[in-house]
Amino acid sequence: MAVARTQPLTGAPAAREAPAPLHVAIVMDGNGRWAKRRGLPRTLGHRAGVEALKRTVAAAPDLNIRWLTVFGFSTENWSRPAAEVAELMALPKRYFESELGRLERDGVRVRIIGRREGLSQDLVDICDEAEARTAANDRFFLQIAFNYGGQADISEAARKLAGDVAAGKVAADDIDEALFASYLSTRDTPAPDVIVRPSGEQRLSNFMLWEAAYAEFVFQDVLWPDYGPEHLKAAIDEFHTRERRYGGAVADDVLATG
Ligand code: IPE
Ligand code: MG
Repeated sequence: MAVARTQPLTGAPAAREAPAPLHVAIVMDGNGRWAKRRGLPRTLGHRAGVEALKRTVAAAPDLNIRWLTVFGFSTENWSRPAAEVAELMALPKRYFESELGRLERDGVRVRIIGRREGLSQDLVDICDEAEARTAANDRFFLQIAFNYGGQADISEAARKLAGDVAAGKVAADDIDEALFASYLSTRDTPAPDVIVRPSGEQRLSNFMLWEAAYAEFVFQDVLWPDYGPEHLKAAIDEFHTRERRYGGAVADDVLATG
């Protein structure tokens, strides 16, 4: 039986536009509730959350995700009980101990954004090592927001920019959105296309405030420690149903109304 061919047998294949790779940002929420439902201490919920992160990072490239930002610890999380803060501080080490070699081999570039001040020297060293060992990678970009706050990041950018203006390196009149964004800790990544929050909560919690300007939001009723490839795929499928207009109008409407 003849097989219908959509492309000629010889010559260049018909150009097909590849979909743009995505930047997905995730608020890893629900560890505490996950543990509570099982009668476990919250610390075990956070450990289970690290396993969910491993699954999610592994699943992302196949979903056309090129940049993944995850929110691990906010500048406001210091107000939690000391024992829980200690457990959260131990998570990057726990994660990189088992994953850094794999990330390095898989071409993943790691960046930890957020304030280094307030973190132990041990933790700062781990973050620096993860960044240094993966600095030459460019296949996939994993950005971990740790001791991060959107407002803190914006105010720090403003402080640095003001310093450069005072030093005569930047003219105040030249400040626009692009210049300002180059002072943010996220300067190496495009703005997130979609911000995902599992656990049922529907708020941003000081995450990527500047960068979220045109992000689509997907909220999912799954607790982070239960998160896996199927949830990430569902979030991306949901994202693809959205029509992004960036403040403009839909082409059809413009034609219809003249
Ligand atoms: C997410 O889990 C981890 C962090 C925000 C540090 P939570 O600890 O917020 O879990 P819930 O919201 O109490 O369930
Ligand atoms: Mg929470």
